Amino acid sequence: MDIGVGTGLLTYDLYEEGAKIVGIDFSEEMIEKAKDKMPDGAFFLHDINQGIPEDMCNMRFDFIVSSYAIHHIDDESKLNLINSAKEILREGGMIIIADIAFQTEDDLKKCKTTYMDDWDVGEYYIISEKLCNEINKRGLRCDYKQISNCAGVLVVY
Ligand SMILES: C[S@@+](CC[C@H](N)C(=O)[O-])C[C@H]1O[C@@H](n2cnc3c(N)ncnc32)[C@H](O)[C@@H]1O
Repeated sequence: MDIGVGTGLLTYDLYEEGAKIVGIDFSEEMIEKAKDKMPDGAFFLHDINQGIPEDMCNMRFDFIVSSYAIHHIDDESKLNLINSAKEILREGGMIIIADIAFQTEDDLKKCKTTYMDDWDVGEYYIISEKLCNEINKRGLRCDYKQISNCAGVLVVY
């Protein structure tokens, strides 16, 4: 499953390898583009502020992925989304999230100061130590890797 699938940039290669793809997005235009690229995929028009669509509660996934989508929702909604995603993850599966992200609040502040003119104040970037702590409190395991000065990959399992 690809959360915030967009045009399918992240999952298209997996689709080509034979993976069954399910995508979620709240943009009809994006869903149409993803469907064009991955006609055998299943797509849900849905706002991830509401967690995972209820229609998906009986589905099970080996991997749930997301790239550059969850910075559009606040931390509480991120946690709600991750919790509801974990419920439909198969035993041994993983949730893998790549996004704009920082290890600490200080790292975010430094980046914000450097890129003040380009900073989008309407977005909610991951602070991994904070988010992982909350994820752990909910009984889930979480690893984080910083991959550049402003992006990282979060793995929940
Ligand atoms: C920057 S694009 C990334 C698309 C794709 N994952 C990629 O890496 O190319 C962000 C995507 O998240 C979707 N999105 C943003 N907020 C959303 C929300 N609240 N619910 C569902 N989808 C959302 C947008 O419509 C868009 O397709």
